[in-house]
Amino acid sequence: MGMESWWSKFISVCSFILLLLNATHCFLLVQTQTLGQVDECSALLQFKESFAIRKSVSADPLAYPKVSFWTLEGDENRSDCCSWDGVECDEDFGHVVGLDLRSSCLYGSINSSNTLFRLVHLQRLDLSDNHFNFSQIPSRFGHDLSSLTYLNLSYSLFSGQIPSEISKLSKLSTLDLSFNGPKANDSIPLKLTKGNLRSLVQNLTNIKKLHLSGVDIYSTVPDILVNASSLTSLQLDNCGLYGEFPVGISQLPNLEVLRVSHNSDLTGYFPTFNKSNVFKKLGVAGTNFSGQLPTSLGNLHSLIVFSISSCNFHPNVPSSIGNLTQLGYLSMAAFNDLSKGVLSVSFSWVGKLTKLYHLDLGYTNIKGEFLSFVSNLTQLEFLDLSDNEISGQIPSWLMKLTQLTTLSLGDNNLQGPIPRSLFQLKNLEYLFLTGNNLSGLVEFDQFSQLKKLKGLDLSNNMLSVEIRNDLSATLPKLQILALGFCNLTEFPNFLKNQSELTELDLSYNKIHGRIPKWVSNATRETLSELYPENNLLTGFDQYPGVLPWTNLIFLGLGSNMLQGPLPVPPQSIRFYDVQNNEYTGEISPLFCNFNNLQALQLSNNNLSGMLPQCLGNSSVLEILALHNNFFNGYIPPICPSKTSLRIVDFSYNQLQGKIPRGVMNCTRLKVLNFANNQMSDFFPSSHTHGSVK
Ligand SMILES: *[C@@H]1O[C@H](CO)[C@@H](O)[C@H](O)[C@H]1NC(C)=O
Ligand SMILES: *[C@@H]1O[C@H](CO)[C@@H](O)[C@H](O)[C@H]1NC(C)=O
Ligand SMILES: *[C@@H]1O[C@H](CO)[C@@H](O)[C@H](O)[C@H]1NC(C)=O
Ligand SMILES: *[C@@H]1O[C@H](CO)[C@@H](O)[C@H](O)[C@H]1NC(C)=O
Ligand SMILES: *[C@@H]1O[C@H](CO)[C@@H](O)[C@H](O)[C@H]1NC(C)=O
Ligand SMILES: *[C@@H]1O[C@H](CO)[C@@H](O)[C@H](O)[C@H]1NC(C)=O
Ligand SMILES: *[C@@H]1O[C@H](CO)[C@@H](O)[C@H](O)[C@H]1NC(C)=O
Ligand SMILES: *[C@@H]1O[C@H](CO)[C@@H](O)[C@H](O)[C@H]1NC(C)=O
Ligand SMILES: *[C@@H]1O[C@H](CO)[C@@H](O)[C@H](O)[C@H]1NC(C)=O
Ligand SMILES: *[C@@H]1O[C@H](CO)[C@@H](O)[C@H](O)[C@H]1NC(C)=O
Ligand SMILES: *[C@@H]1O[C@H](CO)[C@@H](O)[C@H](O)[C@H]1NC(C)=O
Ligand SMILES: *[C@@H]1O[C@H](CO)[C@@H](O)[C@H](O)[C@H]1NC(C)=O
Repeated sequence: MGMESWWSKFISVCSFILLLLNATHCFLLVQTQTLGQVDECSALLQFKESFAIRKSVSADPLAYPKVSFWTLEGDENRSDCCSWDGVECDEDFGHVVGLDLRSSCLYGSINSSNTLFRLVHLQRLDLSDNHFNFSQIPSRFGHDLSSLTYLNLSYSLFSGQIPSEISKLSKLSTLDLSFNGPKANDSIPLKLTKGNLRSLVQNLTNIKKLHLSGVDIYSTVPDILVNASSLTSLQLDNCGLYGEFPVGISQLPNLEVLRVSHNSDLTGYFPTFNKSNVFKKLGVAGTNFSGQLPTSLGNLHSLIVFSISSCNFHPNVPSSIGNLTQLGYLSMAAFNDLSKGVLSVSFSWVGKLTKLYHLDLGYTNIKGEFLSFVSNLTQLEFLDLSDNEISGQIPSWLMKLTQLTTLSLGDNNLQGPIPRSLFQLKNLEYLFLTGNNLSGLVEFDQFSQLKKLKGLDLSNNMLSVEIRNDLSATLPKLQILALGFCNLTEFPNFLKNQSELTELDLSYNKIHGRIPKWVSNATRETLSELYPENNLLTGFDQYPGVLPWTNLIFLGLGSNMLQGPLPVPPQSIRFYDVQNNEYTGEISPLFCNFNNLQALQLSNNNLSGMLPQCLGNSSVLEILALHNNFFNGYIPPICPSKTSLRIVDFSYNQLQGKIPRGVMNCTRLKVLNFANNQMSDFFPSSHTHGSVK
């Protein structure tokens, strides 16, 4: 073969590869690019193509769509996908071994045909904080990606059963599948059915971090975890765990993080901790953990987070916790069952924990004067001392806690005025002082100084709040405002500018006249809770027919002097209470359309006409209180098949006919009252007069 033909052959091979790869650095490629790698790059590109990019699906403020920068065309480096953002290759073979697409705005489904599963050399895969559209986790994760040591699919809206094949990933040292199913809503969360936690753990012999918070597990915690000696972090919050937590897990030598909070049926206790313990975070809040808090807690010298609120521990608290000088987060709210034994607990050791930024001692039976040691805790951002019996005045030294964003002192016995020094707390976002004996005049313009304020609750004291009319512009935009029992005589004018309000409580004041039209102007879309009950209101400035708030959930208009036809709430309504007013007319058939309505309370008005037949149909309605009106006609069928109703009171009306037989189906019914009507039928007779409790 002559030189020329060798060269032309090289050129033709080269241009063939060029054609294939659209590359210029052909020579380099021939040398370093294996066919496997080419396939992996195209697999990545197809993976990219299978998703839409949607900025809003990633929660991280620094999220950006990494895959947008993945491209072959116009890239001088051609198909060297190893340089792509988020892609990591091994140096020897050029295989893709790492894919970090955390917070990358990916939106779409993954199924078993996805080209991701061609990346068989993957060792680290992070797809967290994206939106996989409630896809099931394909079993191919377990079949094809057997080299994985790190797998993070948290916060990514996967759903359904976790495939048992995941337990084939025996090299895994990190598995994070937490916070996928948003349990709070109707979508299906991730599940790991009975017994599978055991098989999973059994096979993951190298596991260091196991995070399954928010997964529906509904099983006991397998005791084989006691042998997972490499474990550094176990996070199983809110998994429906029950039974006894194997105490040996808390003694694992390398365990730094143990979180099993919000598993209300999980029992357990703390063992004796020794000095070699390396715990940094320990959280068992909202479980049934009980027993004595061991003095040896003082040995957990690395502890930063300690959360035992809403448990069942013995009320004696060892002061050795005061030795945990690294502690930043201490939450002990309702850590014991106060009903079981009343011990006045001393928390004076808390004063030594000068790194605390979060302190929650709500409902812990603290009695007496305001805790003076709190003045030591100058790093505090969050302070909750609510639901205790703290007396005396709000101390002016609180102004030393300049980092405070939340101050919650509600439901104590605090007296005297709101000190002016409180308005020096420039970082304050939430101030809750409800349910004390605070008194005196509050000039509301002082709150203009708290520029970051979002929530304010002054209700149920003996305060007299004075609001100047020209205040509007300077006040911060509030989300929560509660001024119940504050001696108000009119709707505060500044509400005109409050465009972020979600909750407004003006109950138990002396507000008279009509509800001004402008009250709804700024809050039309934001307001979900409105309580102007127990005032002297007579109506709406302009008869609204349909209420102007489009997302209202709670409406409390009770105990006023409201007249005219019933205002019609929006579709979102759940609690509608207009008891003790002077409303007239009929119930609009529009009330049949409220699919979320849980309470309809219309009693003690002058309403009349027939009841809409739909009323008892709802599967969510719990309270139907219509007593003491002038309703007539027949009682609509109640509980035809569903059984949510708990309270049904039709008494003191002019209803006729028979009691609907469906009442037999109302298994949750606690009160049923048809008394004082004109009914012809007395079945079941014991239920017709008075109420059934
Ligand atoms: C898998 O998803 C792709 C889109 O990403 C779709 O085209 C294909 O039909 C799906 N296959 C199955 C079996 O659902
Ligand atoms: C090609 O790779 C080199 C070296 O890694 C890099 O400096 C250059 O920015 C890359 N070019 C492109 C267009 O990505
Ligand atoms: C998400 O899933 C729904 C229902 O399965 C489907 O209609 C929709 O097209 C999917 N969206 C994307 C971006 O895949
Ligand atoms: C998994 O990803 C989430 C969200 O990106 C992150 O907060 C978490 O720390 C990661 N888990 C592990 C074990 O690295
Ligand atoms: C556990 O691993 C063994 C061997 O690696 C395998 O045979 C078995 O199927 C695995 N168990 C589960 C539940 O995947
Ligand atoms: C459930 O959560 C998903 C994701 O956040 C959301 O798209 C959906 O609207 C929610 N469903 C309900 C009923 O709230
Ligand atoms: C833990 O390992 C030891 C020794 O291998 C074994 O005897 C014991 O049964 C294991 N415990 C559990 C709960 O599996
Ligand atoms: C706490 O520290 C004090 C000294 O500051 C020491 O006497 C005490 O033994 C320590 N308690 C524990 C449980 O470590
Ligand atoms: C305040 O903190 C110091 C250490 O910074 C400590 O010595 C002192 O005892 C603490 N005071 C109270 C009342 O706890
Ligand atoms: C309530 O406000 C009125 C003025 O509107 C005032 O005269 C009265 O003293 C206040 N009541 C209390 C208890 O402060
Ligand atoms: C409601 O707001 C709009 C603009 O935000 C304003 O023009 C209008 O005057 C307001 N109406 C009332 C009654 O305050
Ligand atoms: C009671 O409920 C069953 C279905 O759960 C239904 O078939 C029956 O008709 C109901 N009875 C009455 C009287 O509504």
